[in-house]
Amino acid sequence: MKIMVVGGGGREHAIIKKVKKSPKVTEIFALPGNGGIAADATCVDIGAKDLENIVKFAKENAIDFAIVAPDDPLVLGLVDLLKAEGIPCFGPDKKAAIIEGSKAFSKDLMKKYNIPTAAYETFTDMEAAYAYLDTCKIPVVIKADGLALGKGVIIAETLEDAKTAVREMMEDKVFGDSGSKVVIEEFLTGPEVSVLSFTDGKTMVPMISSMDHKRALDGDKGLNTGGMGVIAPNPYYTKEVADRCMEEIFLPTMEAMNKEGRTFAGCLYFGLMITEDGPKVIEYNCRFGDPETQVVLPLLDSDLFDIMQHVSEGTLDQADVNFADDAACCVVMASKGYPTAYEKGFEITVGEEANDVYIAGAKLSEDGKLLTNGGRVLGVTERGADIKEAIAKAYASVEKVHFDNAFYRKDIGQKALAALSK
Ligand code: AMP
Ligand code: GLY
Repeated sequence: MKIMVVGGGGREHAIIKKVKKSPKVTEIFALPGNGGIAADATCVDIGAKDLENIVKFAKENAIDFAIVAPDDPLVLGLVDLLKAEGIPCFGPDKKAAIIEGSKAFSKDLMKKYNIPTAAYETFTDMEAAYAYLDTCKIPVVIKADGLALGKGVIIAETLEDAKTAVREMMEDKVFGDSGSKVVIEEFLTGPEVSVLSFTDGKTMVPMISSMDHKRALDGDKGLNTGGMGVIAPNPYYTKEVADRCMEEIFLPTMEAMNKEGRTFAGCLYFGLMITEDGPKVIEYNCRFGDPETQVVLPLLDSDLFDIMQHVSEGTLDQADVNFADDAACCVVMASKGYPTAYEKGFEITVGEEANDVYIAGAKLSEDGKLLTNGGRVLGVTERGADIKEAIAKAYASVEKVHFDNAFYRKDIGQKALAALSK
């Protein structure tokens, strides 16, 4: 079958490497892909938000199945457009993708269906938001309603900072229209767990849990990033926590979306915090997480493409979904200066011994060299019998990958190891 993957980062590279293993898949196109993905798929220079040209390409090239990976095209309704042309897809339609596209929607959904989450209020009026803030405990969390490149969440340590954040979102429009509505919510504490799940609206199959590392520097210091590394499984996600999540969060969310007439089919991502009162939802994403995918899929022993077809046909209950018992660690290598200013264009070399390298920000030069082309350049994943071994192997492989000005965190997985030794 001829398939098309929309997107062009490390997550898409991991998806492509996995679906390529399926005996059913004969040809893969990546839109737009990147210089590293070009080794595993045919890259086509059409951006992930260029819906019209994506649909045109799919029709002209008789694509049999589409995988839509990033949030933007999902929230904009790419799956609806492709399905209208008779092209089967993996990914939620526009009505369901709103679970990520609007935080106000997702918070209201959780309130209505008693799904545990931080207490909150939603505002479209700045003075009303200010008045509410005067009554809030500090720190307090301010979120832009819409998509904001993962940057629309501010944890305000003072009342003044909280008001500044609200003003910047609502009046200065730092996130454009995404900030015309804001959610103000209670600050929760506890370890964070990411759980990606396959669901077709009838069956819910959680994947192996993981732990992202969002801050730029060791010890969870520095600015928030798109993710500097990840390990799986997450030791805080015990059997007891998993059972509670299934009963109190995962199944109720699936059913709530059905009741709202917004059946979700695709990968539903649960960003959870394990608080003293139990697991609570921090955020939903309507897609695979990045970089979580780069550890979760290497641990999947089953045929990913087959699972995706079952999801799109509503027969997930018949799919074989098995994860290995071992562990994985992915270390992200970025360009010095990320997530603010950084240079591009350095040559990347990958030693043969490095196992799974997922390229996020790179392009090919005219003479075929792989050059850095983004802040997060690539992720190096290794599997091991346990987290400790996976971490050691991942860092050994990082040594085999070179580009000038590379920087990476040295402590990916250390918090997980400390939790295990408690
Ligand atoms: P998000 O962009 O929604 O993933 O939020 C980014 C990060 O902000 C999360 O991973 C959490 O670390 C933090 N965060 C979001 N909401 C809360 C909250 N209510 N309490 C504490 N931390 C939060
Ligand atoms: N790793 C967080 C996300 O994909 O949104």
